[in-house]
Amino acid sequence: MSFPTTRLRRLRYLPQMRALTRHVQLSPSQLILPLFVRDGDGPRQEISSMPGQYQLTLADLVQEADAARRLGLGGVILFGIPAQKDELGSDACRDQGIVQRAVQAMKAAAPELLVITDVCFCEYTSHGHCGVVRDTSHGPDVDNDATLELLARQAVSHAKAGADIIAPSGMMDGMVGAIRRGLDAAGRTDMPILSYAAKYSSAFYGPFRDAAESAPQFGDRRSYQMDYAADPDQALREVEQDLAEGADLVMVKPALAYLDIIHRVRTRFPGVPLAAYNVSGEYSMIKAAARQGWLDERAVALESLTAMRRAGADIILTYWAKDVARWL
Ligand code: PBG
Repeated sequence: MSFPTTRLRRLRYLPQMRALTRHVQLSPSQLILPLFVRDGDGPRQEISSMPGQYQLTLADLVQEADAARRLGLGGVILFGIPAQKDELGSDACRDQGIVQRAVQAMKAAAPELLVITDVCFCEYTSHGHCGVVRDTSHGPDVDNDATLELLARQAVSHAKAGADIIAPSGMMDGMVGAIRRGLDAAGRTDMPILSYAAKYSSAFYGPFRDAAESAPQFGDRRSYQMDYAADPDQALREVEQDLAEGADLVMVKPALAYLDIIHRVRTRFPGVPLAAYNVSGEYSMIKAAARQGWLDERAVALESLTAMRRAGADIILTYWAKDVARWL
């Protein structure tokens, strides 16, 4: 049937009709708010490249947790900035490390709020890489297998602190399996793993590295994070591998420039809970344009987040999570 019998505008004339036929929904319960917690006290510090986002102290973090809970968000994901960094990122595995104390404090204040912990080493190491650095035939690089054991240890200490989901983000081969075995051996067969399964090496992480003080001190992350120009089916292999190792939920990251990847993963793995990370640079560029009066922040943010859902993401990690809950 075609024009004039078919007139698709009939579905759009009335706002009630548009509301009735909306297919893609954004719901606060499927948004995760990233939070940065730093050691020490004093006032919260705004991250200059991410207006409206802060490095929080433990006391402020607890308030944020409560706000997230009251707004009905799906949960929060925590990133820690330790007082001391070293070669191995030791603070990451300490039962009294910054993230472990943060989880304990949040769980004491708002036990119903879902707390996800990012499991990686780049915020804790003096060199800013995501694992143990060794000299290799191609120069200094992260030693994959030496890092696995430490990742498992970090995950177990997050679980002990009270985390609800463990989210490894370092793109080491075998990381999900190593963490799964570590958790199981510690008696935590109940602990879910959200794997950053298809994480690309991206310039969109720039502002996050200011926020988490985690920029690599030499080189870059291209030997472990994915190449954005690689065959997109490589993302499917990454996801398949992580599922085989025991991932319960998987993530594609970044989101906005990777909607095709989100869609492919959704199509190839129906039924697997899929998250997308609306990363720092995606946030900062819209914030910056809005500050100039060039874009409408709310409209552009909602359009971008809806596109991520339309591409197939169930869950979105976004710095706008609280704003969206208020906007809707
Ligand atoms: C840690 C990690 C990063 C992000 C989340 N976890 C940074 C990186 O890989 O350099 C980026 C998040 C963002 O940009 O908002 N490995």
